[in-house]
Amino acid sequence: MDFVAHSFFRPEIDSLPAYVAGKKALDASVIKLASNESPFPTLPAVQAAIATQLGGISRYPDIGSQVLTSKIAQFHGVAESNVTVSNGSVALIEKILNAVCTVNSKVVLPWRSFEAYPIAIQLAGARAVKVPLRPDGNADLDSMLLAIDANTRAILVCTPNNPTSSALTHTEVRDFLMQVPPHIPVLLDEAYIDYVEMEDAVRGVELLKEFKNVISLRTFSKAYGLAALRCGYALASEEITRGLIASATPFGVNSLAQTAAIAALDSVGEVKRRVRVIKHEREKMVNALCALGWCGPIPQGNFVWFNLGEESHRFATLSEDEGIIVRAFAGDGVRVTVAEPEGSLRLVRAYSAFRRI
Ligand SMILES: Cc1ncc(COP(=O)(O)O)c(C=O)c1O
Repeated sequence: MDFVAHSFFRPEIDSLPAYVAGKKALDASVIKLASNESPFPTLPAVQAAIATQLGGISRYPDIGSQVLTSKIAQFHGVAESNVTVSNGSVALIEKILNAVCTVNSKVVLPWRSFEAYPIAIQLAGARAVKVPLRPDGNADLDSMLLAIDANTRAILVCTPNNPTSSALTHTEVRDFLMQVPPHIPVLLDEAYIDYVEMEDAVRGVELLKEFKNVISLRTFSKAYGLAALRCGYALASEEITRGLIASATPFGVNSLAQTAAIAALDSVGEVKRRVRVIKHEREKMVNALCALGWCGPIPQGNFVWFNLGEESHRFATLSEDEGIIVRAFAGDGVRVTVAEPEGSLRLVRAYSAFRRI
């Protein structure tokens, strides 16, 4: 009997690019600056709250994350019917694209941007229409408008953009939204919004009140320091929220994550203090790098971008020699997280060595 070579999966699944995670530090002396994580220990209130839940894991979590949903709604001054909680904002992006895309769908996105986007688009069976960034590292919104056609089913905008750390202004994004056809959802990924320090910063909540097609995506993984627990949420119109909740995985957000996120929101004062520490560290790092000739985009996230093209690998290797793990994008650039001061010192030493050779 002849066996015909076949795959169990749709062709786009077989050709999915692998998600490359930041490398893990192999020994304790190495500092990982590759995944834009918070360097602080878990918030004390989160640790205490989780401890009270550890004996109850045999029970399913609250399917609708009711208490957390209500806390998030209060926190942002929106209705509960505008909030969808999920197991991380990447999961939400996948869900949304799966729910809106059909055969021949296109999704317009800036590139380079968060590397999970092309994977999520391909998973949804859609085609990615990648629009190159502006020289300042931001999404080229004018060119993205030109890329929209009758098959466009969603648009992704990341601000601050991962990995360039550039951020768009509220005015720019609002002007863009006025020109996007209102039937196309615009996913505004605000994972790093807490770190923005600029005039006219994007105010996603204001935008979603004005534009029914805006979905503001937030995460507890960055400033709130809950990356390991996987919790994020979408803020959107009631109509979009209904669709997102209908397509959610039942019991998708585990009970420890729900409890932790509630405690983290209750600790917003400490979260803001930690964000200020990172912003201060970022400023010091940028000053030291500028003195060495670095001239990347002014970072608005908790990470800095080195636009090094083919030299990226060399800089990543020098960084590893200094005991830090950075995130290199072959042929493009290197992204480095702003975290503990010792990490910044090592980074500056690595960059100094890079400039000397
Ligand atoms: C732009 C962007 N969005 C979303 C995420 C991930 O968020 P979550 O951990 O909530 O899935 C990341 C993580 O690196 C990111 O860089």
